[in-house]
Amino acid sequence: MTVHIGAKPGDIAETVLLPGDPYRAKWAAETFLSDVKLVNEVRGMLGFTGTWKGNRVTIHGSGMGMPSLSIYANELISEYNAQTLIRIGSCGGMQKSVGVRDVIIAMTASTLSTPSRGIFKELNFAPCADYGLLKAAADAAEAKGTPTHVGGIYSSDVFYDERPDLNEQMQRHGILGVEMEAAELYNLAARYGRRALAVLTVSDHLLTGEALPSEDREKSFGDMVEIALEAAFA
Ligand code: ADE
Repeated sequence: MTVHIGAKPGDIAETVLLPGDPYRAKWAAETFLSDVKLVNEVRGMLGFTGTWKGNRVTIHGSGMGMPSLSIYANELISEYNAQTLIRIGSCGGMQKSVGVRDVIIAMTASTLSTPSRGIFKELNFAPCADYGLLKAAADAAEAKGTPTHVGGIYSSDVFYDERPDLNEQMQRHGILGVEMEAAELYNLAARYGRRALAVLTVSDHLLTGEALPSEDREKSFGDMVEIALEAAFA
C-alpha cells in the first residue's frame, strides 16, 4: 500500500491505463477486461486489474490535472513497478483539421509548467511519448479506421483559460489539442525509464465550440481504450 493506493503488492499489472475519471476506469475495466478485480478505492480513485487477450492490465483513475496524475503515476512506478503507462482521456481540439470524436495520439506535450518544474528549473525539457507505443497506437487506429491525428498537444493547468493569446500561439505552432495531464506523465516516464503514451478523444473544440454529445462519449471512449490496449501489447 502507498499513501494514495490501497492495492497489495502484485495487485497492479506492469501495464496501466490511466483515464482521468475513476468511473471511466470502472467502465473500461468492466467492458474490455476479463477476471476484473477492484484493487484500489482510496479517496474514490478506483483502480481495477484484469486481463485483456490473456495480458494483465490495470486501469486506474489519475484524477484531473498534472498534480493529481503525478501522485498516482509516481506511486504506480516507484511502488508497484508499472512499466507501461498510457493515459486515455479527452481533449479539446485546437486545429480546423481536427474534428470532435477524432483521436489524437500525443507525440509531445508542451506546457507552461508541470510538477517537475522544480527539477528542470530554466531548462525547457521536451516531454515526448515512447516511439514504440506511439507507432503501435497509430497502426491500431489505422486498422480500426478511426480518424486519428499524431502530433503535439498542450497540457494546461487551467481548464477555464482566459488567455486567448496563448491558445492562438499553440494553434499557430500546430498543436492539435489541449488536455491537462500528459506532459507530467511523459516527464515521469523519462525520469524512471518507463514507456508512456497519451491517446485522447476530442470531446470539444476550441475553434468551433462544438462538444461531443454525452450519448456519443461511450463509443468514442471505447475506440480509444481499444487503441491503447492494442498498442500496449503490440
Ligand atoms: N479536456 C477536454 N477538453 C478540454 C479543454 N477544452 N481544455 C482542457 N482540457 C480538456
